[in-house]
Amino acid sequence: MAFSAEFLQELAERNPIEDVVGEYVALTKRSGQNLFGLCPFHSEKTPSFSVSPAKQIYHCFGCGKGGSVINFIMEIERLSFPEAVEFLARRAGMAVPEQNADPNRGRRERLLNLNREAARFFYSQLSTNEGQAALDYMSRRQISPRVAKNFGLGFAPDGWEGLTRAMKDKGYTERELVLAGLAKSGKRGGVYDAFRNRLMFPVIDVRGNVVAFSGRILGDGEPKYLNSPDTPVFSKSHNLFGLNLAKKSKAGYIILVEGNIDVVSLHQAGFDSAVASLGTSLTGEQARLLSRYTKEAVICYDADTAGRKAAQRAIPMLEKLELTVRVVTVPGAKDPDEFIKTRGAEAFRALIEESENGVEYRLQRAADGFDLGTDEGKVGYLKEASRLIATLPDSVAREVYSMRVAEQCSVSADAVRDSVKLARRRQDRSATRRREREDTRPLRQAQPAGVPIKYANPASAAAETGIIRLLNQSPELFRGGLEPNPEDFSSPELRHIYETMLSLSRSGLDASAAAMSASLTPDEVSLYTNIIQEPVSAANGQKALADYIQKISRESHPQDTSDLRAVAAKLKETKGYGG
Ligand code: UTP
Ligand code: MN
Repeated sequence: MAFSAEFLQELAERNPIEDVVGEYVALTKRSGQNLFGLCPFHSEKTPSFSVSPAKQIYHCFGCGKGGSVINFIMEIERLSFPEAVEFLARRAGMAVPEQNADPNRGRRERLLNLNREAARFFYSQLSTNEGQAALDYMSRRQISPRVAKNFGLGFAPDGWEGLTRAMKDKGYTERELVLAGLAKSGKRGGVYDAFRNRLMFPVIDVRGNVVAFSGRILGDGEPKYLNSPDTPVFSKSHNLFGLNLAKKSKAGYIILVEGNIDVVSLHQAGFDSAVASLGTSLTGEQARLLSRYTKEAVICYDADTAGRKAAQRAIPMLEKLELTVRVVTVPGAKDPDEFIKTRGAEAFRALIEESENGVEYRLQRAADGFDLGTDEGKVGYLKEASRLIATLPDSVAREVYSMRVAEQCSVSADAVRDSVKLARRRQDRSATRRREREDTRPLRQAQPAGVPIKYANPASAAAETGIIRLLNQSPELFRGGLEPNPEDFSSPELRHIYETMLSLSRSGLDASAAAMSASLTPDEVSLYTNIIQEPVSAANGQKALADYIQKISRESHPQDTSDLRAVAAKLKETKGYGG
């Protein structure tokens, strides 16, 4: 254990979980002592994410994730354990013992510094003779020097070792350059620059780290963009280009566009909340990231078919996170950049203001797929529209859109209402069936919810779980002479949890979630909080503990003849009955 349990305990005390989580999740008091909010780790509409100030844990009844304040920071800030500890130490103004530094931290920090130095290098290249080409290109694209500087745009020169040599001079190794995706290994040894003769867009994360680069060719040619690969400090699916700036916007919404150039161009025109998804179609992680900074998304993808399709996919992902979604399609231009260049910022603002909401947009797209001049087309469209309307949770919205569709197809509103009702019933039935299938699996029920851990012996695991819950609630039972034998535990995870509790208790410490989380894997921590969030009666603790001990010892020594179960099993084996 790199950090002492005492240190972790103090860290947790100085970072009350309800305060820390409260900075990311709106928490309200609902019942008892616990606070509830929408889980930041999975999509949900009703709060199943709980925080217990008393136990200093969080636990999601929906996805099963849980842990101490340290685990929360690890998960939400995507940090390693030592990084999360450091993050919280900084938050509370505590010093982190130097010898406790993460062995990987040095490596990550060096890569981030390397990226920052690289961004500086690219920026400095703009003022060289060769860099004039990039300045010319930017001015052709009407990118102002002020905005270029704001985004940290730069130029990667055309040689093979401009960046490589500059970074080596600063003490970075070839290995680090390759690891950061800035250089590639040559066939005959050595490395060469990965980005050459390109306009460079640094990708900056929400904490201000330069995590990657996107390089655009100056003019036409293939590939138009080169991007950093995923590296130890960058995952494409978890980042959005421009979010470092957009998160500070006062607009109240975030504009989601396709291209880096669109982002730059929108910011320049005063839309400082534009972001782009780095050339991937919007991922779940990106949607979640967005939802941390805004309640409303305006999708403004390219006007082509691909853009429309991408918007269709993005809408439900964002709606699931309770974001209001609007969709803007720019008329008479291929993308928002071109629209703003030809029609001006005010025209774009008007587009946003009158933009359709997500349902209207999807209905419109559904209508595009049918010829409403024919009966067949109307029937097809009605079916699809009903299915869409049926998914709306709000009955007033269902009514409004039913009427609109009725008008569109010149049929009675009742006909559409009936069709929507039918679609709703069908959707309800399949949801019920899905639930039933889940519920009727007894063995699965005995398994911990939402944690990828499987019990080989659910009966014994139930008792092991009981032991852990009991000892968490009444640690003094450890000193009552009754001590479960770790070797009797059937589940390696539960055993590991128990042994960790035991060793903390032997050093006279509480098995606080923060102290536990230093030794447990994230899944084990989730399992642990899963177990201890359930209340247990403190009465008869001794007796309950004794029962559990007997249970697990029987399960682990079935050949013991004093064990009735084993006797029954033997009878069954030899005589073919019993059990
Ligand atoms: P676009 O081709 O629309 O680029 O691709 P753009 O940024 O709008 O540039 P212009 O206005 O056409 O000059 C949208 C995004 O897809 C990714 C980039 O992130 C780009 O910004 N992309 C595109 C790639 O990753 N590789 C490519 O070859 C092309
Ligand atoms: Mn584009």
